[in-house]
Amino acid sequence: MGPPGAGKGTQAQIVADRFGIPAISTGDIFRANVAKNTELGIEAKRYMDAGEYVPDSVTNLMVRNRIDEEDAVKGFLLDGYPRTLAQVDELDGMIAYTGHRLDAVVVLTAEPAELVRRLADRAHKEGRADDTEDVILRRQELYLEQTAPLIDVYRKRGLVCEVDGLGEVEEVTARIIEGLGKVEES
Ligand code: AP5
Repeated sequence: MGPPGAGKGTQAQIVADRFGIPAISTGDIFRANVAKNTELGIEAKRYMDAGEYVPDSVTNLMVRNRIDEEDAVKGFLLDGYPRTLAQVDELDGMIAYTGHRLDAVVVLTAEPAELVRRLADRAHKEGRADDTEDVILRRQELYLEQTAPLIDVYRKRGLVCEVDGLGEVEEVTARIIEGLGKVEES
């Protein structure tokens, strides 16, 4: 978890590779569907371009199908899911059904100024449709309103590993790996 630009996608890929499990990024799956112009992509794009969350019903079904795939049997790392209380409940149900359990919830933190700098830089290099100034603001607002409160839900379960997302990518990865070790011990 973490606000837009905190480095969730970057770190999810690296950490998942370390553990030999897939990184499942809801944002990436939506973008791949947008690129292929699938029904899901057409539906998701309306929300993504405005910086809004895709409805829970659509997102939950997509994650449920993805974690059912063969490569996720041994485990998986979720990037950008859950983002709402309804998604937290749904995830609990999904993993109870598949026999998995949640080991840890990594929360990446970063100063707002750095987040804006990173996303503006990416807008310049990649031109992602939702990296415009007003949409970035809306994404940040929505994160604070709907997703940040979920951290406490997981904190109460003793699963949260809060990591400073500032610094070199490798430094942040090292902090995550160290933090995960502490969650495991506790
Ligand atoms: P998503 O793609 O997940 O977007 P986001 O949460 O806004 O996050 P970002 O991808 O912008 O940032 P990030 O934290 O992953 O950082 P990243 O590693 O990319 O979701 C997009 C949309 O899909 C949502 O707005 C919503 O519409 C929909 N959606 C997705 N999940 C959903 C859900 N569960 N429910 C409903 N709707 C959902 O890094 C950002 C930039 O910084 C990159 O350019 C990167 O190279 C750079 N960077 C990373 N680390 C560092 C570092 N240490 N130093 C310098 N630069 C760095």
